[in-house]
Amino acid sequence: MPSLTVEGVGTFAVPEGKRLVLALTDEAGIDQLHACGGNARCTTCRVEFVSGEPPTMTDAERSVLAARGLSGVRLSCQILCDHDMTVRAISRFAGSGRKDAGSRPADAIPQ
Ligand code: FES
Repeated sequence: MPSLTVEGVGTFAVPEGKRLVLALTDEAGIDQLHACGGNARCTTCRVEFVSGEPPTMTDAERSVLAARGLSGVRLSCQILCDHDMTVRAISRFAGSGRKDAGSRPADAIPQ
């Protein structure tokens, strides 16, 4: 199983191929935001990679990051845990002022 390290939180074994956004909430147990429910629209699932950043992006991730002028972050709803990675969780529910973290993303990345 790949390992996911969240800076300042810990290192967790994650089922191969699990969506990173779900691994952050389930295995790492953090209050990761995912306001659009994992559909590459809100960008609140963003993380910063320390190591293991995937070399490829879904078309949806590329397009929403470009539309918002974002760089240096990746969308955890568009990434699968298929190798070891270390991230900074920079977009959390606590202190966000939102009413909730967002509905739970589906198990698979929507096509
Ligand atoms: S872009 Fe909204 S949850 Fe990923």
